[in-house]
Amino acid sequence: MNSLIIIGASGHGKVVADIARLNGYDDIAFLDDAPSLVKPLGYPILGKVSAFLEHLDSDFIVAIGNSDARRRIQNELNGAGAELATLIHPSAVVAHDAVICPGSVVMATAVLNPSSRVGTGCIINTGATVDHDCLIGDFVHVSVGAHLAGAVSIGDATWIGIGASVSNNISICSGCMIGAGAVVIRDIDKPGTYVGVPAHLQS
Ligand SMILES: CC(C)(COP(=O)(O)OP(=O)(O)OC[C@H]1O[C@@H](n2cnc3c(N)ncnc32)[C@H](O)[C@@H]1OP(=O)(O)O)[C@@H](O)C(=O)NCCC(=O)NCCS
Repeated sequence: MNSLIIIGASGHGKVVADIARLNGYDDIAFLDDAPSLVKPLGYPILGKVSAFLEHLDSDFIVAIGNSDARRRIQNELNGAGAELATLIHPSAVVAHDAVICPGSVVMATAVLNPSSRVGTGCIINTGATVDHDCLIGDFVHVSVGAHLAGAVSIGDATWIGIGASVSNNISICSGCMIGAGAVVIRDIDKPGTYVGVPAHLQS
């Protein structure tokens, strides 16, 4: 049996479970601190997140959208010696030399072009594209349908919102939120929320 524990049983966790099934996991279960959740895709919720220590014979993935929570729980898993999965939907296009670090998920129809690197705990969401030579830090979320042109650099825990675009050779620092539909055409070196076309610090 290939066992996977998914931490976080929300809608995002459900999508992750579906990818895990397609990646050959046949024993999938969730941990979540919210008691009222229904079984996502029929997979069981075995208990609270703190119960992960009882399941160290399984692989793990943290399916929580909030990057701080994702980082905190993943650090706890690492500290306990847990094995982190890397999940890639079969319809994603991933260049042969692209690097995807453990704990990251690449969703359906996403594209990762040559010489790109995705750190740990990242989400490359449905239909997102990451072009050649992009450097994506840890715990980054590239949302559904967002696009990074060539040689873009994204700092840790930055969230690129749905449908946002980042022009080529642009660098965005850690701790940014790039709003839905924004177009980033200049480097961003100060953490904050940026929206609009062209993207600017939200007032
Ligand atoms: C940028 C964002 C985080 C701001 O959220 P917020 O702080 O709650 O902002 P508010 O909704 O209070 O809006 C504040 C102002 O910013 C504007 N604004 C918010 N998001 C904007 C966006 N994406 N583009 C342009 N303007 C935006 C609002 O119109 C509002 O302007 P006003 O004060 O002139 O009326 C949010 O709107 C957003 O874009 N989230 C992306 C979510 C996402 O990508 N989800 C996908 C998951 S896969």
